[in-house]
Amino acid sequence: MKKLLRFLGVFAILLGCFALYIQFFGYKKTFSGIPYPDLKASNDPAVIARGKYLVYGPAHCANCHTAIKNQPLVDAGQEVALSGGFEFTTPVGVFRSRNITSDKETGVGNLSDKEIARALRYNVRHDNQALLPFMPFQELSEEDMIAIISYIRTLAPVKNEVPDNYFNFLGKIVKTFILKPSMPQSKPVYSIARDTTPEYGKYMAHYVANCYGCHTNRDMKTGAFIGEPFAGGLQFEPSPETQGYGFITPNLTPDPETGRMQGWTEAVFMKRMRSGRVHKTSPMPWGPFSRMDDNDLKAIYRYLQTVPPVKHEIVKVAYAPGEAMPEAVN
Ligand code: HEC
Ligand code: HEC
Repeated sequence: MKKLLRFLGVFAILLGCFALYIQFFGYKKTFSGIPYPDLKASNDPAVIARGKYLVYGPAHCANCHTAIKNQPLVDAGQEVALSGGFEFTTPVGVFRSRNITSDKETGVGNLSDKEIARALRYNVRHDNQALLPFMPFQELSEEDMIAIISYIRTLAPVKNEVPDNYFNFLGKIVKTFILKPSMPQSKPVYSIARDTTPEYGKYMAHYVANCYGCHTNRDMKTGAFIGEPFAGGLQFEPSPETQGYGFITPNLTPDPETGRMQGWTEAVFMKRMRSGRVHKTSPMPWGPFSRMDDNDLKAIYRYLQTVPPVKHEIVKVAYAPGEAMPEAVN
């Protein structure tokens, strides 16, 4: 009996030490050896213009890298300062987008082009910690990466100190043991033809506009993909940023019975994408997407027609504050 008690005592102490380790140090784990992409920002006005289009349009950096209260301005097409501070309330903590203006103390003014490129390509923060998987840009073409960074470099400095992320204990466990940098699945191309082919549509839907990241079910604790591509079902629990509304993404696959876009022609799709939000606090960046050019919208539509149809009924996408949502499947 004594032996057992001693064993349990030692076990409890070890467990306590381990919890303390996670609580104070473990979650600040860094990753070394992640390469810095070899590229440089450009002063070419055409490159900067492409970057600006991506930042305020399809890549919707503007949607996340400004305060929540600025969302109506982003929707309206104003060039809000990208000074960060959007708070995402999740089951594992509260996470804040960073200030990406060129302010040297509180923004990215002191980061090199390569450090910014590494953040986008591999989801690694400048201090080598893994970034949470909010950004899907791992396979951006080199050209678009350069365009985005070139435009970011033109942003006037705005002083705005964004507090670091808050992880609860579960979040710290995830950060210590599960969260890793995100690696591109295949070698990013230098340049991709901007035509209306499904190939370009796939590039846009996966690596630029993140349609894939929201319209595919994921484990919201780790960000891991757990659903069929584009079959919907990702749940956004009620949170301050949605003013208490809950959302579930619809199925965008061309399933004749359960696909949200069944019967939509290309013209109907384009009109819907251009007409902006129906649900005031939907997490979908409707404003930036409404400014996507015809070419990009056509390519996305044509790509979505090629995705394997999946039967997955999403009965309802928006839930009023207090309204019960279905159990998340994860
Ligand atoms: C869906 C929201 C979202 C979008 C879209 C988004 N970001 Fe972010 N970004 C974040 C969040 C949240 C963080 C901080 C994550 C963390 O701390 O783990 C971040 C971090 C960063 C960082 C890391 C800075 C550092 O300290 O190392 C850079 C750079 C960045 N974003 C640039 C961009 C650019 C450029 C775009 C558009 C091409 C973009 N982001 C689009 C949410 C977003
Ligand atoms: C940040 C998450 C997010 C991203 C990114 C996103 N969506 Fe959505 N989408 C949603 C949610 C949530 C809804 C349901 C609420 C609503 O209609 O706004 C939705 C609804 C839709 C609808 C149905 C609209 C209707 O009238 O019923 C279409 C079509 C759609 N998204 C297409 C896209 C396409 C195309 C992209 C990429 C260009 C995309 N979404 C990117 C979250 C997202």
